[in-house]
Amino acid sequence: MSTIFYGALITPTSLTEYRALPRALLSVSRDTGDIEWIEDDVAASELQDALARHGAVSENVDFVELKLGEFLIPGFVDTHIHAPQVPNLGSGQEHELLDWLAEVTFPMEARFADADFAKRAYSSVIKRTLDYGSTTCCYYGTLHLEGTKILADVIHSYGQRAFVGKCNMDRNSPEYYVEPSADASLAATRALIAHIQALPPPTGSGTAAEPLVRPILTPRFAISCTGELLDGLGKLAAEDAGLRIQTHISENAAEIVFTKQLFPPGSLPAPPPLPDAATTKAGGKVANGKARETTYAGVYDAYGLLRHNTVLAHAVHLEEEEIAIIQARRAGISHCPTSNFNLRSGCARIGMLLDRGLKVGLGTDVSGGFSPSILTAVQHASMCSKVVALHTESTPPDSRFTDRQLPIATLFYLATLGGAEVCDLQARIGSLAPGKAFDALVVSVRSETGNPAIWGMDTAEELGMGLRDDGRTRTKTEEEELAGMLEKFLFCGDDRNVRRVYVQGRLAGGKESRV
Ligand code: GUN
Ligand code: FE
Repeated sequence: MSTIFYGALITPTSLTEYRALPRALLSVSRDTGDIEWIEDDVAASELQDALARHGAVSENVDFVELKLGEFLIPGFVDTHIHAPQVPNLGSGQEHELLDWLAEVTFPMEARFADADFAKRAYSSVIKRTLDYGSTTCCYYGTLHLEGTKILADVIHSYGQRAFVGKCNMDRNSPEYYVEPSADASLAATRALIAHIQALPPPTGSGTAAEPLVRPILTPRFAISCTGELLDGLGKLAAEDAGLRIQTHISENAAEIVFTKQLFPPGSLPAPPPLPDAATTKAGGKVANGKARETTYAGVYDAYGLLRHNTVLAHAVHLEEEEIAIIQARRAGISHCPTSNFNLRSGCARIGMLLDRGLKVGLGTDVSGGFSPSILTAVQHASMCSKVVALHTESTPPDSRFTDRQLPIATLFYLATLGGAEVCDLQARIGSLAPGKAFDALVVSVRSETGNPAIWGMDTAEELGMGLRDDGRTRTKTEEEELAGMLEKFLFCGDDRNVRRVYVQGRLAGGKESRV
């Protein structure tokens, strides 16, 4: 049994390229939810032959034909979002990070001690992120074990792919919102991991062998964790190489100063040895122990928390040595430009980090960021790269991305496959390819979606602006038209344009799932 889509498909292939296929045929297995095969270009007159070649006979197939202005893309990956902060969207924009945490964020998170509140709030959160097209999210819960179990349960019931972590915070937090000890924090973390790993396989069609909801270690940031707690988390991580880790890094100037005060030189254990290839840009100098002791990244590294499946949010003010360590450990960056503008944290030099070989994805960082949509993160990532370029006196002539504005293909990549790489899921999600999970969006830029910010493709057709042959010379190929639709969606789209959201082959959200 299969579902076969016929129509336009856009999928990233590299940081600088994507494939835009106006007439693709894509088959999804209803047993596994994986993509079975893709035909790149099938004319309408060849459709029956193509289906027959794949043994697709009508009684076994649900056939879905997309209209002009509709296209398939991979689902978005939100690599950094605080689920309990969604009720705070649009509140507290006047603060910088540390005041914002104290004044706005911790009071809201503390409310999630109430299980009933948590259940109701989280249901609304997950519906929203799915409807905006985030098929995978890296969620921070609160410090509460029960509340975060509820978060995992709700995500599981909605069928979203996610990593769920309980915040670890045993110091520098208000007395009404702090864990009593490192031991208590570690015990609750273990209990959450056990709870999530015991969740039953997802139900309904599109059932895959792999779990959709997974645990992730979540030391909130170095400031909120004692060395003892970070040490315990590092040991927990060492027990399971597949366990993801997420935290914040180098977001705000005052935060960095405080972190260095809390972990002065000489206070850290020796980090695991770095691979020989760990060099700084400055000229082959291996990042040495002394430098590492005095940087923010060095704190996490000393406790074994930087590795290939660590997600580091922000990275706005990274020092040279830190970039080298992160690159050597193959940890990923969650770029959260909406939050970085909103909390006045700064503009991350993402182009430079890409040129240094770091993995980068996008994060909404709700509610430091005021939008739960990765589309907003895409728009602000573009603006952020333009601000960086504007403030550069001379862009290195041989740079690919450094201090340049990020191209559309790069933005699309960061929102999809880049995010998948950051959470070490690139083998399963992030692009549309045979053998990968069908985590995908049916997007529409047609007028009937009711988004006044988009000049709909069908209106354009009526006015003779479209690409159909009308006796006049075409100015654009179909591929170029499709590329134009992608750009319009990324910059002007919203949840009205996200018609259907599939996770592992199952319809899990989108405008049409609600009618
Ligand atoms: N650093 C520590 N906690 C937080 C948080 O909740 N949001 C952001 N943006 N930064 C943090
Ligand atoms: Fe955050």
